[in-house]
Amino acid sequence: MKKHNCLDIDRIAFFGRTYAEYMDMFGLDESLLRQSQILDCPAGASSFAAEAHQKGIDVTACDILYDLTADKLMEKGKKDLQHVFEKFDEVSHLYVWKYYKDKDEAMILRSRALEIFANDFPVGSKERRYVQAEMPYLPFSDRTFSLVLSSNFLFLYGDRLDFNFHKACIKEFLRVCSGEIRIFPLIGLDFKPYLYLDDILSSLDSDDIKVEIVEVPFEFQKGANKMLKLYL
Ligand SMILES: C[S@@+](CC[C@H](N)C(=O)[O-])C[C@H]1O[C@@H](n2cnc3c(N)ncnc32)[C@H](O)[C@@H]1O
Repeated sequence: MKKHNCLDIDRIAFFGRTYAEYMDMFGLDESLLRQSQILDCPAGASSFAAEAHQKGIDVTACDILYDLTADKLMEKGKKDLQHVFEKFDEVSHLYVWKYYKDKDEAMILRSRALEIFANDFPVGSKERRYVQAEMPYLPFSDRTFSLVLSSNFLFLYGDRLDFNFHKACIKEFLRVCSGEIRIFPLIGLDFKPYLYLDDILSSLDSDDIKVEIVEVPFEFQKGANKMLKLYL
């Protein structure tokens, strides 16, 4: 197998992590979640919203594909999972095999998340816990949420989402949020830090926003163990 230095996938995968993985990626504790109105954006096939709902935690999940049916999302999720995991072997030397002991364990967790998500989706979308949205525009009033979580999209897909798109998404998060925004990871599919992070932060041009880069107890892509926190 030829080794590569970049995860060479041809799409933004409809993919998702579980509640437990979110807790670690974002360094969360449940007491914060219980007192927050949370937006997960984009949420993809993550089971975070479904599992949080079971615990009585208030989460709204958004994704561009949430106008599809649960069956179609399940089908798309399975296809994307297969595509990503086929490409994985080319770059497996660039991952830290500690959080997941091997590829099978990571795959099992992604499949579990997809299944929990798809089971919750029909009822959850009627209850407006799953909302279709095409970023950077979010169909919510100003300051609807106190905590915005965004993982495995901004910065990660910096090879195909441009600077202005990143900037517009973060400005939109700042509009719909009254408290805190967390974004993970800060590196791309090429395993290198997102080049324009400082430029984006200076473009936000508000003295009222506090910025922190915080280490988290999660590392799968080598070097991807930090999140960006913005406080209002
Ligand atoms: C890898 S998933 C993120 C999953 C989840 N946050 C996690 O960490 O498990 C990326 C998602 O971005 C969604 N997406 C792509 N472009 C989008 C856009 N312009 N607006 C909203 N969602 C978008 C895709 O449909 C996909 O589900």
